Amino acid sequence: MSETVSIVIDGVSMAVPAGSTILEACRSTDNDQPTLCYLETLTPVNVCRVCVVEVEGSRTLVPSCSRVAEDGMIVHTDSERVRHSRKVVFEFLASSVDMSLTDDATKGWMDRYGCDPTRFGPQAGPVADRDHRHAGHHHAPTGDTAETVSQPVKVDNELYVRDYSRCVLCYRCVEACGIDAQNTFAIAVAGRGFDARISTEFDTGLTDSACVFCGNCVGVCPTGALMFRSEYELRNAGMWDSDRQSVTRTVCSYCGVGCNLELHTQDNRIVKVTSPADHSVTSGHLCIKGRFGYSYVQELGDLAVTPIDEVLARARR
Ligand code: SF4
Ligand code: SF4
Ligand code: FES
Repeated sequence: MSETVSIVIDGVSMAVPAGSTILEACRSTDNDQPTLCYLETLTPVNVCRVCVVEVEGSRTLVPSCSRVAEDGMIVHTDSERVRHSRKVVFEFLASSVDMSLTDDATKGWMDRYGCDPTRFGPQAGPVADRDHRHAGHHHAPTGDTAETVSQPVKVDNELYVRDYSRCVLCYRCVEACGIDAQNTFAIAVAGRGFDARISTEFDTGLTDSACVFCGNCVGVCPTGALMFRSEYELRNAGMWDSDRQSVTRTVCSYCGVGCNLELHTQDNRIVKVTSPADHSVTSGHLCIKGRFGYSYVQELGDLAVTPIDEVLARARR
């Protein structure tokens, strides 16, 4: 079998290692393609469809993040059909989901495609008890407003919160909780159609679910739907300031595995812990101790209680 395949992307011929996806081929030449559900450390689930491209001979647009490049393939990443599809997908998402905390790259892609989520009308208010809706068992939307996934934030533990008003259903958290990292399977998608949502078994609170509080789902969430409680409380207090934060890479002190930690600090306090995706031991994933077991580092007693200490203490209650 040949070790490379030859493809043409936007008129440029290239040879890529056999098994490469179209997205990997694009990114090897700085051809920036939008993605949302894709993450290098997870198995592609190709659900968001913002990465679709046109492949000559293919009836439908194909997701570049999971479609393997084949010899002789001719790909168009910027055709009218591709641009239109990406624009509408982003608009549908942004009209129904609070995407204000997505990264700058996502906001840039939405600008690139001229997205206008407001064209579907003003957003409808929150739906009561969204977690128990069944497709076909509630009134259809009137069409006067844009239906949303808005619902109250779930705060049921001191480690992380779930704000599914921000959830784009990318499945990253489900993958990280399941076969790609934690193998705990505490969360999955429940419901169908627009009623689909991420849920624990029987919609129990996290503390009654199978969750082991590794925080790996939080680590992969692209929209802020899953957020460390410390960050959530600091944002609510108007004190979260990523411009004043620094990140220190170190090794977890709890055991001999050697997981790398990124300590995010603000005002000389740890405000959250992440892990580098490119580290061979963890691929960005951690256990509860490395992720959340840091309060002993800054347990200062009454020696120095500053405003940030008061908020962080509130987060642990
Ligand atoms: S914290 Fe870990 S175990 Fe709990 S839902 Fe998230 S990934 Fe699953
Ligand atoms: S909670 Fe976050 S990671 Fe999970 S599906 Fe929603 S947006 Fe994706
Ligand atoms: S990034 Fe390819 S389908 Fe989501």
